[in-house]
Amino acid sequence: MAPPDKARPSSNPESVPGAALVAAPGLAARRRGETWFGNNDVASFIHRAFTKAMGYDDEDLRRPIIGICNTWSELNHCNHGLKDVAAAVKRGVLQEGGLPLEFPTISIGEVFVSPTSMLFRNLAAMDTEEMIRAQPLDGVVLLAACDKTTPAQLMGAASADVPAMMVTGGPMLNGRYEGQDLGACTDCRRYWTEYRAGTVDEATMCALEDNLCRSAGHCMVMGTASTMAACAEALGMMLPGGAAIPAPDSRRLRFAEATGRQIVRLARQGIRPSQIMTHAAFENAIRLLHAVGGSTNAVVHLVAVAGRLGIRLPLERFDELSRTTPWLANLRPSGRYQMEQLFEVGGIPAVMKELEPLLDLDCLTATGLTLGQNLSQIEPAGTRSPASIKRMREVIAAREAPLSEEGGLAILRGNLCPDGAVIKHVAASPHLLKHRGRAVVFRSLADLSAGIDDPALDVTPDDVLVLQNTGPVGAPGMPEVGNLPIPKKLLERGVRDMVRISDARMSGTSYGTIVLHVAPESAIGGPLAAVRTGDLIELDVPARRLDVLVSDEEIRRRLTEFTPPRPAYRRGYGRLFLDHVLQASEGCDFDFLVGAPEDAHDAARFGRDLRT
Ligand code: FES
Repeated sequence: MAPPDKARPSSNPESVPGAALVAAPGLAARRRGETWFGNNDVASFIHRAFTKAMGYDDEDLRRPIIGICNTWSELNHCNHGLKDVAAAVKRGVLQEGGLPLEFPTISIGEVFVSPTSMLFRNLAAMDTEEMIRAQPLDGVVLLAACDKTTPAQLMGAASADVPAMMVTGGPMLNGRYEGQDLGACTDCRRYWTEYRAGTVDEATMCALEDNLCRSAGHCMVMGTASTMAACAEALGMMLPGGAAIPAPDSRRLRFAEATGRQIVRLARQGIRPSQIMTHAAFENAIRLLHAVGGSTNAVVHLVAVAGRLGIRLPLERFDELSRTTPWLANLRPSGRYQMEQLFEVGGIPAVMKELEPLLDLDCLTATGLTLGQNLSQIEPAGTRSPASIKRMREVIAAREAPLSEEGGLAILRGNLCPDGAVIKHVAASPHLLKHRGRAVVFRSLADLSAGIDDPALDVTPDDVLVLQNTGPVGAPGMPEVGNLPIPKKLLERGVRDMVRISDARMSGTSYGTIVLHVAPESAIGGPLAAVRTGDLIELDVPARRLDVLVSDEEIRRRLTEFTPPRPAYRRGYGRLFLDHVLQASEGCDFDFLVGAPEDAHDAARFGRDLRT
């Protein structure tokens, strides 16, 4: 066996991240694949014979078997680079004495999947969990990129609880147009809004379309995909530094190769996701989420991943951690820069280094070392050259001089959202964070699309746009429609933001004063269903309140008249979804999937000792 990589500090923030940070193999684990191949019975005989059909021999079958769970798809441009990433992972696995076997799982791309990608996150998580558990794997490398693929794989891997690490596909290169950086999809929305307002012409829109997406990879702002990759790194499921490497950068392949080597060691050590993704690790990830001004969707996804391990993350805890975590990363859509610049100044490890005093440093990570040991290898900002510090501070603020004393997200409560709602207040208009306005209610997506640009719509800039029936059950699948368009007649008057409230989600690349994830949702009779056009709504983000100024008695009376929308599905997966999906505050997982893995620690299924 090759000696382990020697830990060494790196003075170059752009060196191959994570490659130098791995623990020497310690206590051996018992090998899971042995159950399939190592017995003197007919089942093992057949398993060996059929595996040899692919050209593998007995020497191969004696090695730790590492699955490469690939969400590559030609219908998912964000994950389109994952074939090359998988090849690099394979090289690493072979270098460390493992046998890499790649297998596909469902791939969910935000852009094409209809009616909405979130409808299928749990399906992908089930696919991942069951295929890991069902196959002779001693370890698995999860390859994800687009928004839902990352949390789905983390959820599945958590439930299967077989040694696992993640490599994401990386962000696209920055778009470029007339000397400015473009970000998907923050600029899609920004320019489309201007196009609707008549301030940008069709020729410009065509040029933007050609210049926005210059490479494979996921959206390159701190949208949901970037956020979930960052959270995977903060959770310890990824080698340090992997989240921000641009998709086409060769360092991503070298990072993948290093991951291939390390997963073999993790498999030998038997370090499982449940040992890495602990309650403390989730709190570290939540702090990182706040510090990077990450996506509101991460709240739903982190609650869901934690739920798979029997860990409860109440929304209040997100808010408590937001109150005590500074916003540091100056990244769009809340800030100015994009993932390419974040990588250039040190990526997620540099942000975590700033957060170090606030983190639980004892958490075990995929390096086999603790988070504290990993961060000890990251050079403090103060030791950089003056030019490097200056550049870094444009993208990552110092903890002592943050962009904001509080983190990027806030959790609201009130009679409109008894079980919580989320707002990304760092991407909102400051003057709207305390606002009272008249509700203008849209009952559904169809109602919204029919009415929003109607010249006769009775609406002013001070009104509050309310969208009902777009939650997990309502739409169904909780689509990213919470960033309701500003009515055209107000756009033409120069209005670019209004308070908007719904039980939907929004893309992590969106911005504005937008209250999301209202729970319980209107389609199951939450108070949002009782709001009527003309009611006064009060938003007070500093006080974390969202209320409709209608008496409790009147809300109750109106809800007695509530009729739930007709179920969108009567059969198939859609029916399963409607029957079992939990509310946003509970992560939108299926009720029957929540809880610690039951059989993952079944030692009887882990055969031979690998200490040889
Ligand atoms: Fe996949 Fe934006 S469309 S991350």
